[in-house]
Amino acid sequence: MSAGAAGDTLCFFVNGKKVTEKHVDPETTLLSFLREKMRLTGTKYGCGGGGCGACTVMVSRYRPANKSICHYSVNACLLPLCQLHGAAITTVEGIGSTKTRIHPVQERIAKAHGSQCGFCTPGMVMSMYTLLRNNPQPSLEDITQALAGNLCRCTGYRPIIDGCRTFCQEANCCQLNGGTNSGSKEEHPGETPLLFDKSQFLPLDHTQELIFPPELILMAETSSPQTLTFHGERVTCVSPVLLEELVQLKTSNPEAPLIMGNTKLGPDFKFKGVVHPLIISPIRVLELFEVTETTHGVWVGTGFPLSEIWAILKKLCRQFPEEKTELFRALIQQLRNLGSQQICNVATLGGHIMSAYPNSDLNPILAAGNCSVSTISSGGWREVPLNQEFFLSFGKTILRPEEIVVSVLIPFTRKGELVRAFRQAPRKECAFATVTTGMRVLFSEGFRVVEDVSIYFGGIGPKTAKAVQTCATIVARPWNAETLSWAYEALVKEFDFPPSILRGKAEFCRSLTLGFLFKFNLEVLQSLKKMNVIENIVVENMEPLPREIQLSQQHFQHVSKGQSDQDPVGRAIIHSSAISQATGEAIYCDDLPKTDGELFLSLVTSSRAHAKIINVDVTDALLLPGVVDVITANDIPGKKTRMFSGYDEEMLAQTQVSCIGQIVCAVLADTRAHARRAASAVNISYQDLPEPIFTIEDAIKRSSYFEPRRKLERGNVEEAFKSVDLVHEGVIRIGGQEHFYMETQSILVVPVREQAEFKIYASSQSPTSVQIAVSETLAIPANRVSCHVKRLGGGFGGKFVKTVILACITSVAAWKTNCAVRCVLERGEDMLITGGRHPVLGKYKVGFQKDGRILAADIQIWTNAGNAVDVSIFVAEKILLHLDNAYNIPNLRGRAAACRTNLPSNTSFRGFGVPQVACVIENLISDVGLMLQRPVDQVRELNMYKGPSLTHYKVEFSPENLLRCWDECKAKSDFCTRRIAVDTFNEQNRWKKRGLSIIPIKYGIAFSEGVMNQSAALVNIYQDGSVLVNHGGTEMGQGVHTKMQQVASRELHIPMSKVYIGETSTNAVPNTFISAASFGTDANGMAVKNACQTLYQRLEPIRQKNPKGTWESWVSAAVMEKISLSATGFSRGPDSYIDWDKMEGQPFPYFTYGVCCSEVELDCLTGDYRTMRTNIVADVGQSLNPSVDIGQIEGAFMQGLGFFTMEELRFSPCGLLYTRGPSQYKIPAVCDLPLSFNVHLLSDSNNPHAIYSSKGIGEPTLFLGSSVFFAIKDAVAAARKEVGLSGPFSLDSPATAERICLACASPFAQV
Ligand SMILES: Cc1cc2nc3c(=O)[nH]c(=O)nc-3n(C[C@H](O)[C@H](O)[C@H](O)COP(=O)(O)OP(=O)(O)OC[C@H]3O[C@@H](n4cnc5c(N)ncnc54)[C@H](O)[C@@H]3O)c2cc1C
Ligand code: FES
Ligand code: FES
Repeated sequence: MSAGAAGDTLCFFVNGKKVTEKHVDPETTLLSFLREKMRLTGTKYGCGGGGCGACTVMVSRYRPANKSICHYSVNACLLPLCQLHGAAITTVEGIGSTKTRIHPVQERIAKAHGSQCGFCTPGMVMSMYTLLRNNPQPSLEDITQALAGNLCRCTGYRPIIDGCRTFCQEANCCQLNGGTNSGSKEEHPGETPLLFDKSQFLPLDHTQELIFPPELILMAETSSPQTLTFHGERVTCVSPVLLEELVQLKTSNPEAPLIMGNTKLGPDFKFKGVVHPLIISPIRVLELFEVTETTHGVWVGTGFPLSEIWAILKKLCRQFPEEKTELFRALIQQLRNLGSQQICNVATLGGHIMSAYPNSDLNPILAAGNCSVSTISSGGWREVPLNQEFFLSFGKTILRPEEIVVSVLIPFTRKGELVRAFRQAPRKECAFATVTTGMRVLFSEGFRVVEDVSIYFGGIGPKTAKAVQTCATIVARPWNAETLSWAYEALVKEFDFPPSILRGKAEFCRSLTLGFLFKFNLEVLQSLKKMNVIENIVVENMEPLPREIQLSQQHFQHVSKGQSDQDPVGRAIIHSSAISQATGEAIYCDDLPKTDGELFLSLVTSSRAHAKIINVDVTDALLLPGVVDVITANDIPGKKTRMFSGYDEEMLAQTQVSCIGQIVCAVLADTRAHARRAASAVNISYQDLPEPIFTIEDAIKRSSYFEPRRKLERGNVEEAFKSVDLVHEGVIRIGGQEHFYMETQSILVVPVREQAEFKIYASSQSPTSVQIAVSETLAIPANRVSCHVKRLGGGFGGKFVKTVILACITSVAAWKTNCAVRCVLERGEDMLITGGRHPVLGKYKVGFQKDGRILAADIQIWTNAGNAVDVSIFVAEKILLHLDNAYNIPNLRGRAAACRTNLPSNTSFRGFGVPQVACVIENLISDVGLMLQRPVDQVRELNMYKGPSLTHYKVEFSPENLLRCWDECKAKSDFCTRRIAVDTFNEQNRWKKRGLSIIPIKYGIAFSEGVMNQSAALVNIYQDGSVLVNHGGTEMGQGVHTKMQQVASRELHIPMSKVYIGETSTNAVPNTFISAASFGTDANGMAVKNACQTLYQRLEPIRQKNPKGTWESWVSAAVMEKISLSATGFSRGPDSYIDWDKMEGQPFPYFTYGVCCSEVELDCLTGDYRTMRTNIVADVGQSLNPSVDIGQIEGAFMQGLGFFTMEELRFSPCGLLYTRGPSQYKIPAVCDLPLSFNVHLLSDSNNPHAIYSSKGIGEPTLFLGSSVFFAIKDAVAAARKEVGLSGPFSLDSPATAERICLACASPFAQV
């Protein structure tokens, strides 16, 4: 954040405190001001583009016109600071704190277990808080709408919704505590344990809220507003008050943009590097905020944000008869799905129209509805129709640059006029549409003949476009099947659908346009029927997909009757830092205060996929303000490479690059803005090398692999194929997945400046790996480097290998400059550089009997490893070890290869290849079911392991709990009854289908390399009796610290409140291994237990002397008697191994099992679907903490749902990742939560291999998200039946709307 030249003083309030800023740089956002200047780090930076909600704060303004105060949520990352004159900002710190009083919203989200890593929590809290300020008793619909733009990668949203719904009126009258419908604590004491008890919650009391600053009211009432001018380093912003002044400014500076909501301009500034020396902010010009009713319609000021437009239209709908408000209602429907609440609270109507997005949701409907705009310029006023001539291309309209759009006429409709809007987007909410449309038709009263028709589309070309020929085909003709069939033909002909990688394929877009016209037809027919114009026609009623969230159930076992009340093991204890996360007090790496002289490091990455580096020219970069140095490989004093699986990987490329996004050098500057600008000024020249490889298929063709390739086999596959009844071959492609941890990779390296000592603060899952790598890179002993990890804002496997490399580069910079250096990746950089889950190509041949028994399978898996080996060999191995999933296939062969390509290297990701391979095997089984026309669940059941069994790598195990999960899941989900109901629904509906699936998982826990299973802990008891535990696990939301607190509490027989878990650091606990493989609790729990037991035994003599003493008295006595109260604990962990030559071993000490049933409803015309219900039964042994375990199960399931149904990585033909932020890459949001989401922990399950008989659960249920994929497949099969198709068909993962729609093979998709 840089100070500008003297300008006007900006005055606003933050959390009740007055802020006056004399030097406001127009490029400074509210978020950077809060975080960097005010040190209010509760508000988080997740994406910088309005797409994740982590930066949500509340803005309040006083409106002198009606003497009211309005509160609205905003994305602080997009809000320019200079727009805030006279506003009051409330951040998460302003509503409550652990030092004073926490706010009920903070309390309820935390205590309902809605905070895991906590990075999204302040944003969630502020969205909910703002809703409650405006509406103290919201409906569930209000809540889901308010939270629609807040992403959470950990929880799966259910607990957040359950916490928030306790504010609902309906929740208070009929809903129950703890989000379960099995009875409240008060009603059925002792019956069903609950996840939380809402009777303990603080009441919502608005008298406790911060009041709007009276000084701002006075300021608004008394002072006459003046033009404000703010100068920054590169940009000046002028904010006029009068329309004439605005016109003058725009006339003299026609190229200067009008900055309103900044939701179009802001991302352009940030992501495209656009700079305007002058910007004009007309947000105080009153004429832009007027509403005028006329006989034709309503003129609405273009300065209104979209949320107010929505409210204005709603009011008008109540005011006028239905027939006059058709257009208003269609607009309301589009607004309901456009952007998030935060975006709609600032994005203006004028900004929207003038942004002229090709896939704008409003412009097609405004155009179809005959709207027009009123503009002003030095030449005067004019009215311009919003029609096909108005929109020229993206960002361009026919208006002259100096014209200002003041208002929009939204006409009333007439009797006989119908207006509808439809859209299809990669996610139901908060996603730009793939195709969007506005359609209007006018009939003369009592007639079927079309008097006028207007159809506009967005998303099918460079601009909002009218279907001119289609309209010409319909007009003056009766609305009937014949006209419509001509219209479909015309529609196909008139638009040329260019295949665009970003906006979906031509077939899909075409199918959507036709599908929308068909839907419009259904609605028109319904209306004509209502108007008695047509009779005797049966019209399918295509209701929108269901969206009402039901109560969900979470079932788990009570602790045993004999367990002491103080013993927390087995109880639903909240995440130990949930409250600090909800108050914004929890510290993440980038929240650490800036030290004196600290520098920021920004990376320069390759723009070529396969090329020689000819020259790296840093001249321009070094000339820019604030730039200190550029770090290249030559600066590395020690090892310049990291070795994985025998392959060396350069940390900074020297002579050659092998993917776009490979790190070449890094720029150091005084601020992050300066470092980023300078990084983009580094010029690298390349000489392209031939034929980069991007796809698995190309890699196979060119034998491009990382060795070794692995094989695992049992039985005699070849022989078995000869004897089976049927043989089938199939293939499935499974795309990759971005981790999308909410906190991007962050590192701070602080040189101690003595004896080459360095302290590293990193968002790393493996502090020891960072420590060792940095010491090798800097050529110093490991004892000079300590790595500290307080918490991670999500990891999911992505903060291991790549974090190590980033930490090494940052350390080189700190070593070279002797200054503290911070490196925090932008979301786009993070997605570009760090890789993700391995995409997979799975080919299989399966041999089976007519009764469904599978006797042989030969499966080949190829992964796209990218340009470096990373952990790809281990992923391939784990893939083979889970080749059987839950099935006993007597003759089974698997081969796995990691393909070397020129994409950024993929890395570890929750599940480590298992979700991919399990999906391949489930697809194989689904094919068998479809071949035999037998219900797939029966084929699954028939082939499952039963009785004492042997895995394909010759390990004995009992599948009893797997089968129990299966049976219980079938029972809890009412599988059989619902199967019949689904089939009946499908018979009765042509264009909507339902699908049902039930999927098992058998997941091996721990590392198959025994050495990685060891762990250690350090437990200190202090003189006051408080206990500090350090262990090797890193807290990334999975609750390992909470569980360790429970372990220490049990072992030391003290309340949890006396136990504090310190940061994970290599100087407290050395030589640890990565927190991963669902093994964190197993490993560290044993080590903590070991240390605590040692201490407890040391205290035994003291206790014996004074059995009635208190814990504190024993501790004091121990100190007096010179007994050490510090102990280390150690656990060797299982000595797992696998011998790949013999194809046998003992890779996992035990399995975690789970079974999931999901049901979906599908719109066959658009490919859109909704998960209606999900039931999971999971075997977690004796759960150590049911709330944490259920949180892991739900969060993993939702991550899996995203992986298998919506998260799609797209690359350009030259290997550039397109999907580099939440606007292009869609992870599940609140709108994707199954409407009924039920989790049941298998009771009476024991596990002798892990602490207190628990089981690891972090990863296994991710695969269960595929139950939604297979339910979709089931529904698609029903749709295909309608057009006479049966048998296996191809549906790759993720099952996006596009793939689903095309697989349904409707007549519209066949054109
Ligand atoms: C995360 C996110 C999600 C979104 N989702 C959707 C979606 O689902 N569907 C959809 O359709 N859109 C979506 N949008 C786009 C959004 O609707 C537009 O960005 C927004 O309406 C632009 O309004 P603004 O006030 O922020 O414009 P600004 O960014 O302030 O300005 C945009 C342009 O309009 C010009 N301008 C503004 N007002 C006037 C005026 N009165 N006269 C002349 N020129 C003017 C400016 O000069 C500038 O060039 C999304 C945007 C974001 C960031
Ligand atoms: S950081 Fe602002 S929305 Fe993501
Ligand atoms: S708790 Fe929501 S992102 Fe981690």
